[in-house]
Amino acid sequence: MKTWKVALIGCGSIAESIYIPQMAHIPQTELVAVCDIIPERAQKYAERFHVPQWYPNIDELLAHCDFDILMDTASIPAHHEINMKALQAGKHLYSQKPVGLTVEQVTEQMEAAQKAGVKFAASPIHPLRPDILFIRDMIQNGAIGKVTMVRAHTAHGGPEHFQYRDADPSWFFEPGAGAIYDMGVHGLTMAVAVLGPAKEVSCTAVISQPERVVRTGAFDGKKIKADYLPDNYLITLNWGDGCIGVVDAGFCQVASTVNMLEVYGTKGTLTILGQIKIGEGDGVRMYLDSPELKVRGWLDPLSQDRPPRGEFEQCECLSDLIHAIETDTTPTLDPKIARHVVDIMCTIPQAIEEKRTLPLHTTF
Ligand SMILES: NC(=O)c1ccc[n+]([C@@H]2O[C@H](COP(=O)([O-])OP(=O)(O)OC[C@H]3O[C@@H](n4cnc5c(N)ncnc54)[C@H](O)[C@@H]3O)[C@@H](O)[C@H]2O)c1
Repeated sequence: MKTWKVALIGCGSIAESIYIPQMAHIPQTELVAVCDIIPERAQKYAERFHVPQWYPNIDELLAHCDFDILMDTASIPAHHEINMKALQAGKHLYSQKPVGLTVEQVTEQMEAAQKAGVKFAASPIHPLRPDILFIRDMIQNGAIGKVTMVRAHTAHGGPEHFQYRDADPSWFFEPGAGAIYDMGVHGLTMAVAVLGPAKEVSCTAVISQPERVVRTGAFDGKKIKADYLPDNYLITLNWGDGCIGVVDAGFCQVASTVNMLEVYGTKGTLTILGQIKIGEGDGVRMYLDSPELKVRGWLDPLSQDRPPRGEFEQCECLSDLIHAIETDTTPTLDPKIARHVVDIMCTIPQAIEEKRTLPLHTTF
């Protein structure tokens, strides 16, 4: 079994809490280097997680480190430049979301990957989740009849509020980032992962909290100017053929009891219980309404096709990417899905401004 050398760029909250610890569970990988534009952060993470090399920027990393796969967990505005440099240097890539800020940027990255003959997997990881795949298969098999609506909910109280951070979270509120790219991207990806590409989008969005105060971590008490972009979104989608969707997303829900995903059909409902905490078991419930079987009620469905498995970990994106490299196939986290979601997110500001529904131009 080949060991794939991984370098990680962006030594922040998600790298510390999810990706670096979970990488140890992927036996085909070895984390050989970490990199951050703030060199002390790269050095600190290298020491803390016993990583042999650290670098202060992507150029030095590419020039001096021998590795196969780049994992990009840097801040959102940095993704495109980092991803392009890595792909052009012939590195396989897994990038945090969104991989680019425009459809053109994502296309440019896809073309660079193709030209270099490398594999490119794009976050969010929802299309890889067993519960999402289970729901998608049940829908395709007609378990809930004709689908009429999907409802996705991906909001929290803001990155300055809900988790300990030792990096300054101000960038989350600035142009090039924002609640749509950080949170809306999740609900939109879940919705299209189960129903396929949407045809139209409309949206209402507002700035509800123009100033934020960091609540914990190294920047506790820091005031953040947060009036550049909306932080509170209600997005509607249309798939045609009588099927619509609503995604509520943002940084304005300190707590909620709303399930992260529900899909309604003429013969029932499918729901993933709980909010967005990926990895907490399957949690899929189904309401079956079957006059033919003379039965209706809630079920805890189990998959016949998928073997029982442990908790899903986000770092399984690496196993999926390695499988794609070794079999010369497209990763499950196909950047075409990510590009469609970027298309939706880029169309939203115009839909808000013109107060109307607009067509989408990408598919997957
Ligand atoms: N924190 C979460 O729970 C979470 C969850 C899912 C996804 N994400 C995504 O992960 C990414 C990072 O989020 P985070 O919460 O870890 O942010 P963070 O602010 O904690 O960390 C980002 C790190 O990237 C570094 N960085 C910025 N520009 C860089 C560049 N050009 N080169 C190298 N390093 C650079 C910063 O110095 C910082 O250390 C984002 O895309 C975010 O949407 C975060």
